[in-house]
Amino acid sequence: MKQNPKIKIEKIVSDGRGIGRHEGKVFFVKDVIPDEVVEVKILKEKKSFTEGEIISIIKKSPYRITPPCKYFKECGGCYFQHIDYRYHKIIKTEILRELLRMNSKISYQEGIEFVESIPYNYRNKVTLRVNESGLSYLKEKSNQFVNIDSCMIVNEKINGVIEKLNRMNLYQNFIKKVNIRISKSGKILLTFYTEISEITNLTLDLESLDVDNIILFLKDEKPLYIKGKGELVNLIDENIFHFSHSNFLQVNDNIAEKLYSYLQSVIKNGETLLDLYSGIGIYSIIFNRIFKNIYSVEGNQSSVHFQRKNIKENRIKNVSVINRFIDSTFKIGNDKLFDTVILDPPREGVDKIFLKSLLPKIKDQLIYISCDPSTLTRDINLIKDEFFISEIKIFDMFPQTKHFETVVIFERI
Ligand SMILES: C[S@@+](CC[C@H](N)C(=O)[O-])C[C@H]1O[C@@H](n2cnc3c(N)ncnc32)[C@H](O)[C@@H]1O
Repeated sequence: MKQNPKIKIEKIVSDGRGIGRHEGKVFFVKDVIPDEVVEVKILKEKKSFTEGEIISIIKKSPYRITPPCKYFKECGGCYFQHIDYRYHKIIKTEILRELLRMNSKISYQEGIEFVESIPYNYRNKVTLRVNESGLSYLKEKSNQFVNIDSCMIVNEKINGVIEKLNRMNLYQNFIKKVNIRISKSGKILLTFYTEISEITNLTLDLESLDVDNIILFLKDEKPLYIKGKGELVNLIDENIFHFSHSNFLQVNDNIAEKLYSYLQSVIKNGETLLDLYSGIGIYSIIFNRIFKNIYSVEGNQSSVHFQRKNIKENRIKNVSVINRFIDSTFKIGNDKLFDTVILDPPREGVDKIFLKSLLPKIKDQLIYISCDPSTLTRDINLIKDEFFISEIKIFDMFPQTKHFETVVIFERI
């Protein structure tokens, strides 16, 4: 093959790279935009595809912009900073449609609404490594550090904390990792992961940090509460939610609000709701008034602890919490039928055997909330024979990255 072929980019695929063809071979190239023509250096040649890197842009997209972040090239967390945000919805919606064709084997002709976010400073949580030079991300798929003084996609107040931490001797104090989390009202929870077994070895004045909560994990993983109770509180739809450093919450509060009000508008009233992968209980609690009985299943013990606390604090009486890891052996409800089921799994999606056993138990509506369109569309292939899709919506929960949140509303055929 010619050394540096010229490729016309056809589309962006789910791993965030663009694809084009040359001499019958498929090329994968990063940092491109559909319809651009680029000259590429070949990085890796495989039997069925080639990976390349841009050398020059021969035909530039009108959507190409200069990435605003100085770490964009090396960091690897953001994929689309070189593309005008107005075009992200086209790229992400096309990725989803393609996966629906490939994995679900359906050609979905209806519209897919794309709910846009603020493009930067949206993340309410970040985990950073510590090295001699300060705080860093890990380069994608590697152990290489990318030291940062701020990150354009995280909340501004979190950036203020990063700045302060970069001026402290964290590395010399055996701190390996830091997690910074902010609540909707702006309270900060800082979690340090250290390699020391005794707090007396620490020469840092952590208490003087202007944050609300500090948790410190010693080598044996025992948490020490240095400041505050180690908890944050969010108000969602007039309900109080307590959570801590390890519990799942959506990372983009503004888009999460839009997601919750969309769900409020589509969920049907009924006798029973089954809330699977329920975290700290947000759906079970905000929908408690429209169902008589709610069954909520969550695998993570800490999330179950906070879910029970949140149920109690909001004086809710109709939610039964089941602390179980959902896998092929999990059986729910014996002969019970559920009017509505919410499925909100992690990236791996839902276990195939469990999903097959669940479908006959759903009387009416299935709401699938997914942060990974590949596993979502794989699971839709199983669901589609018993349910039809009444609506699909994308929520841009993770702007600038290749990720997005999808909600699919199914009704029984
Ligand atoms: C995407 S989060 C959704 C949480 C919740 N629905 C929310 O919106 O806040 C997925 C949740 O599933 C839990 N989880 C992951 N794998 C699980 C499994 N196999 N069985 C049960 N829960 C699981 C995680 O701890 C996490 O709380």
